[in-house]
Amino acid sequence: MDRFHLIQIVGARPQIIKSAAIDRAVKKQFQDKIRLTTVHTGQHYDHGMSEVFYKEMSMCAPDINLKVGSGSHAQQTAAMMTNCESSFKELEPDGVLIYGDTNSTLAAAIAAYKLGIPVMHVEAGLRSHNLKMPEECNRIGADHLSTYLFCPTPAAIDCLAQEGVHGHDESPSLERPGVYMTGDVMYDNSLFYAEQESEEHEVQGIDLRAQEFILATCHRPVNTDDPSIFSGILRTLEEIGRSHHMVILPVHPRVSRHRSVLEKYIESPHIKLIEPVSFLEMIRLESRCKAVVTDSGGVQKESFFFKKPCVVMREQTEWTELVDNGNAVLCGNDPERITAGVSRMLNAECTYPPFYGSGNSAEEICELILRHH
Ligand code: UD1
Ligand code: UDP
Repeated sequence: MDRFHLIQIVGARPQIIKSAAIDRAVKKQFQDKIRLTTVHTGQHYDHGMSEVFYKEMSMCAPDINLKVGSGSHAQQTAAMMTNCESSFKELEPDGVLIYGDTNSTLAAAIAAYKLGIPVMHVEAGLRSHNLKMPEECNRIGADHLSTYLFCPTPAAIDCLAQEGVHGHDESPSLERPGVYMTGDVMYDNSLFYAEQESEEHEVQGIDLRAQEFILATCHRPVNTDDPSIFSGILRTLEEIGRSHHMVILPVHPRVSRHRSVLEKYIESPHIKLIEPVSFLEMIRLESRCKAVVTDSGGVQKESFFFKKPCVVMREQTEWTELVDNGNAVLCGNDPERITAGVSRMLNAECTYPPFYGSGNSAEEICELILRHH
């Protein structure tokens, strides 16, 4: 039988990282059954947002880079759709695997769907129920165009059911999609790459043994588009660094536009603004920090994987089990709530149930794809 030709679509940083798990599973176990082609939309393009991961995580470079780059939502999504369509027509894949909830996810889903190619969604069913988030639009769209929905948690399966998307065991089709609880490919990755973590104690010149620290990240439009809100967040983080532990913040390129706000903290001993870090460096930070303050989806979960309490600078999360179990607290972007959240979470006693599978989600996804081939 011919190998199943699977195209995986990546574009933004978290998708490149997630794709490492499928890449690894295919190389290790499914080389004779799956032919994997990686198409990078070019949504993220800085070395530290894309190439660094290919080198460090031993992934093959993308087979195709559509080099779409930045733009408004419509410009970016339209360019990705057009370019994905050409690639799909030329490559004639048996399935298109998409990750998460970015513009790359939705664009590839629409292009594949309209060519009649089955769409396979990793991280299906997640919902924040905040319709103002661009990601919510991308997730809902992608899920309803998918034939295979790979859900990381039971809560994601419930969200799909609420929207009338129910799983079918027989050959999945558009009318009768397959909905599967597969666990989370990022749990696979965190386990795998944590083992590769060396005795290195430094990240961008900061000796992590020198003092305790809190790790922070911030890139959501609601926290970064308005300079006064972003400035308030930085001020709050510096204050937390002064009264608890130094804060280390790898700066997302989205906020480089607020140069004058960032410049105020260059010399601060309480908050260290650094370039985006590689995934192994991120694991180093996550595994050694005292707590995490973030608005990132991925970083919320990784703080759980590395057993660190998390203060979420959002009003909702897709990873509701973390909040329900007391591993994370939602604080929006209000300085007082963030400060109180950090004080509370630094002393929190948390448990870490196996919410995200057993570390072999990527293998399960590959098996499910092949089951009906
Ligand atoms: C995107 C995703 C978001 C995801 C995040 C992960 C959408 C709508 N948003 O947000 O869901 O959480 O990626 O990090 O898909 N830029 C650079 N260099 C780069 C990439 C971006 O300088 O390599 C700058 C550009 O000024 C660009 C801005 O960052 O306009 C925003 O990039 P974009 O990809 O549109 O959105 P993100 O905020 O990165
Ligand atoms: N990450 C990284 N370097 C950084 C910041 C984040 O490698 O400087 C990783 C992080 O460990 C996680 C992923 O990027 O695996 C999360 O991406 P991001 O926060 O950009 O997006 P989100 O998960 O919110 O979509």
